[in-house]
Amino acid sequence: MTMLSTPTEAGHMEKKNPRQIDRTGTPVLEAKGLVKTFGHVVGLAGVDLELYAGEVLAVIGDNGAGKSTLIQCLTGALVPDQGELRLDGRPVAFKRPQDAREAGIETVYQSLAVIPALDIATNLFLAREVRRRGPLGTVFRMLDKKGMRRRAETAVRELGVQTIQNMGQAVETLSGGQRQAVAVARAAAFGSRVVVLDEPTAALGVKESGQVLGTIERLRDAGLAVILISHNMPHVWQVADRIHVQRLGRGAGVLDPRMHTMPEGVTVMTGAATIDELAGVRADA
Ligand SMILES: Nc1ncnc2c1ncn2[C@@H]1O[C@H](COP(=O)(O)OP(=O)(O)OP(=O)(O)O)[C@@H](O)[C@H]1O
Ligand SMILES: [Mg+2]
Repeated sequence: MTMLSTPTEAGHMEKKNPRQIDRTGTPVLEAKGLVKTFGHVVGLAGVDLELYAGEVLAVIGDNGAGKSTLIQCLTGALVPDQGELRLDGRPVAFKRPQDAREAGIETVYQSLAVIPALDIATNLFLAREVRRRGPLGTVFRMLDKKGMRRRAETAVRELGVQTIQNMGQAVETLSGGQRQAVAVARAAAFGSRVVVLDEPTAALGVKESGQVLGTIERLRDAGLAVILISHNMPHVWQVADRIHVQRLGRGAGVLDPRMHTMPEGVTVMTGAATIDELAGVRADA
């Protein structure tokens, strides 16, 4: 089932100060001709994508359009069958998420890769635990639990989540929305080039969603590139600089939220019109 938020008149938002993003240089991340099949099912049928520093690129599309497959191919969770990936213009081949992470790409997957039985701080530092200083850390590999909890607390607070009391609390005791907040806090704390968020507000209330959107803007203003996958059109129109529309495993074009309305976005998403047809309608009017 597709959960589309009702498009409103606010869909056509005039941003007072359109942000200037330099797209003349080399994209931070670039994909060309990505193909990924699962047996007979085509996940991606040749998708191109360009992502620049200091921008939020939203990815929208119906269920099964290939959004998650696309970002999994960009971040090492899946290895594409065909296609090229470039980071700062240099060809890369991520074999696992850790490879992308080491290159500065942090991802919150739709399936939320948190480990329920572990506590919040440990989840935040998964695969990058902080060792204690001196021989206790270097020789005995002892973890700096206190330090990790302190940093976890800062990351979660920065996200404005007040309802999480104790960083030593197991993630399985958190609500769905709080878990999502932990996953977003982790990505925001460790992403250095690119942060990718697959439906980060799906389980969140209004206030918490607003905080995640604020975090996205903060990362973008710090010069990172953000990819946001969302079914929530108002959220997309609020924070995106460009909108990649994914349809039936292919890219159906890139919308400009300052030029295109939410209903127009839905029209392209469902295939009722192409972006060129929208432009044609405008020219006729
Ligand atoms: N691991 C997998 N094995 C088999 N088929 C898969 C797998 N992952 C994705 N697919 C298929 O690939 C297509 C694209 O799926 P994908 O998860 O990328 O869609 P999506 O756009 O993220 O959808 P949603 O909005 O529901 O999250 C679907 O037809 C899906 O069934
Ligand atoms: Mg998905």
